[in-house]
Amino acid sequence: MGLRFPNPLGLAAGLDKNAEYVRPLSDLGFGWLELGTVTPQPQAGNPKKRLFRIPSHAALINRMGFNNIGVEAFVNNLKYPGKAGIVGVNIGRNKDTPNACAIDDYLQVLRAVAAYSDYVVINVSSPNTPGLRDLQERDALDELLLLLKHEQVALAKSYHVQVPIAIKVAPDLDDEQIAAVARIALERKLDAIIATNTTLTRPSMEGVLAAQEDGGLSGRPLKQLATATISKLYRHLQGKVTIIGVGGIESVDDAWEKLIAGADLLQIYTALVYQGPGVVGRIVRGLARRVKASGCTTLAEAVAKARNELRVTSSQ
Ligand SMILES: Cc1cc2nc3c(=O)[nH]c(=O)nc-3n(C[C@H](O)[C@H](O)[C@H](O)COP(=O)(O)O)c2cc1C
Repeated sequence: MGLRFPNPLGLAAGLDKNAEYVRPLSDLGFGWLELGTVTPQPQAGNPKKRLFRIPSHAALINRMGFNNIGVEAFVNNLKYPGKAGIVGVNIGRNKDTPNACAIDDYLQVLRAVAAYSDYVVINVSSPNTPGLRDLQERDALDELLLLLKHEQVALAKSYHVQVPIAIKVAPDLDDEQIAAVARIALERKLDAIIATNTTLTRPSMEGVLAAQEDGGLSGRPLKQLATATISKLYRHLQGKVTIIGVGGIESVDDAWEKLIAGADLLQIYTALVYQGPGVVGRIVRGLARRVKASGCTTLAEAVAKARNELRVTSSQ
């Protein structure tokens, strides 16, 4: 993505939807923050209750529905007191905007945030905006990215920097859909893919009453699904497009698993809710210890070495 991250662990989108807590969240030790999802117009989101804890499974179900203050107020928040470290902005369309006009929403928000963000994420995977996930389908995604990449070039002329563009995908895509996303990402020279958003499925949640709530499931039950999506994407992309791995990371072992599966960077949300801010340092320090133990100097080297060792063992 052309960026240098102080450490690989970022805050996932959806916690600071309005860019209100940039400084304090940076102080928790994250390598970077992803803010939003922000839409062109302010919107209230779904009626409450819309967020449910399932502590027995270290999971959350949410159907927030992109509650946010709209891009104009969001950008004001981001301007003052100014950025602290790397900040990505996750952008979406308003609920009332039909998919046929979604591009106008994305372009409007992209233009508004480009000067204040280090990368921008096109959110086509939230389960709580009806129809949004259809934008992951091959033709819709291809057209969307074509126009957004055009805009990226146009914006680079004004700002003299090319803001990297990522897409965030769902963990509920089948193999064919994943292959199509990867092919489009390569063809359109996408800068990164974030895998994954929350799931509409309910893995290992039999008999759990709260699991019947509508919305996206995050945390421990999402982990395997997200890791599998990362592995499949990596097999197609072979390191040519940055992968940001997210979904059910609670520990340094979980973080390592995502890196071995193909992630270059990581994000968390639900673990922060259950474990509190200490989880950030535990994971970051744990990764640093693994790099040291492997005799490497960078995380990328240590991960590449571990992936190679795994390949040798599994071919024996
Ligand atoms: C309450 C809540 C709100 C979220 N809102 C957003 C959002 O606005 N945009 C987005 O891209 N992802 C959103 N997410 C998804 C997270 O960014 C992340 O992809 C997902 O929770 C999986 O990571 P985790 O298991 O570490 O929580 C939200 C998640 C939660 C729990």
